[in-house]
Formats: sequence, structure tokens, C-alpha cells
Amino acid sequence: MEIAILDGEEARRRIPELALVLQDCVAKGASVSFMNPFSLAEAIGYFTDISESVARQEIILFAAIEKGRAVATVQLHPTWKPNQPHRAEIAKMLVHSVHRKQGIGQKLLETAEIEAKKRGYTLLTLDTASGEAERLYTRVGYIKAGAIPNYALWPDGGYCDTVFYYKLIDG
Ligand SMILES: CC(C)(COP(=O)(O)OP(=O)(O)OC[C@H]1O[C@@H](n2cnc3c(N)ncnc32)[C@H](O)[C@@H]1OP(=O)(O)O)[C@@H](O)C(=O)NCCC(=O)NCCS
Repeated sequence: MEIAILDGEEARRRIPELALVLQDCVAKGASVSFMNPFSLAEAIGYFTDISESVARQEIILFAAIEKGRAVATVQLHPTWKPNQPHRAEIAKMLVHSVHRKQGIGQKLLETAEIEAKKRGYTLLTLDTASGEAERLYTRVGYIKAGAIPNYALWPDGGYCDTVFYYKLIDG
């Protein structure tokens, strides 16, 4: 398994693989913006938009590649805000259910952090509704800032709380 940073062209080429990962996560109940039923066509549409953002250098896209296929992914979103040039958000941390609990999520986060440091970001922020993801973020040094009740919906309905985390990476 290797972690790759995808440029716009590779992101476009891997849209079907990335879409399968997203669709699997939503189908298995992850609160990651989308509601069930969530079609592969919708997942492809989402990653088509992302690949275009990658090509415009608005987003940095990471993928875990196993046997030539993307099986997990995460994104780094630098903020557009002129008063936050030092901050980037970690987003859409997704590991296909078949490939979980092998350290892939941790490796993706560590790679994203190294890349963020290289690019001069000193603060990473994220939010999550997943207990498993909370353990992962805590393990790699993220600090819990707090939770907001009823922030989003689970993909099959019902409110879910969302917890916000940050990590200072200027050390
Ligand atoms: C949350 C998520 C990203 C974690 O990904 P992952 O690749 O399974 O993460 P890791 O393998 O690094 O860690 C997961 C667990 O496996 C364990 N693990 C890691 N390597 C292992 C190995 N070789 N053998 C056994 N267990 C291992 C970790 O200790 C951890 O245990 P814990 O849950 O008891 O703390 C994944 O479950 C996921 O994609 N969920 C759905 C989408 C989602 O909710 N994303 C979060 C959005 S913010």
C-alpha cells in the first residue's frame, strides 16, 4: 500500500475508484455530507467536482493505493479566507470498509500533515461524527475543541452531533 498525492489528471483517472470508496462509506452509515440512497453516479459527480478543484490547485487530494486501486482517501482544504492563510481543513477521510483497521487512515493523516507542513500551514482543523475517527484523530495528536449537537443527519436519517478538532503543526 502506498499513499499518493493525486494531481488533477490522476484524480480524474481515479474518479471511479474514489467514488466506490465514498459510496461504500455512505452505505455503511458514515455521516460525510450525503444521504442514502446514494448512487454511484452521485459519488462520481462529487469526485468529478473534486478532481476539477484539484486541477485548479484549490484542494490537495491524497489516496491510498493498493494493487493499483485507490482504497482510501483524504483531502486537505486550504481556507480561501485572506485572514487565515495558515489554516487548512482535513476533509472526507474515507477508508473502504474492506480495508479498515490496517493503519491506512492513520497513514493518510500523517501524510496529509507532512504535506501541510511543507506548504507552510501551521493549523489543521476538522470535524467528525464518527467515534472511530475520533479515536484516530486523537491518536495522531488532534485536540478536541467541542461538540455541536444536531449538526448534521446520519445518512439514513436522524440528527448526529459533530465534534470539532484542531492540531497546531508549527512545532
Ligand atoms: C474512521 C476511518 C477513516 C478509520 O480508518 P482506518 O483505516 O480503519 O483507521 P486505522 O486503521 O488507522 O485505525 C482504526 C483502528 O484499527 C486499529 N489498527 C490499525 N492498524 C491495525 C492492524 N494492523 N491490525 C489491527 N488493528 C489495527 C487502530 O488501532 C484503530 O483501532 P481503534 O478503532 O480501536 O482505535 C474509517 O473507519 C472510515 O473510513 N469510516 C467511514 C468514514 C468516516 O466516518 N470518516 C470520518 C469522517 S470525519
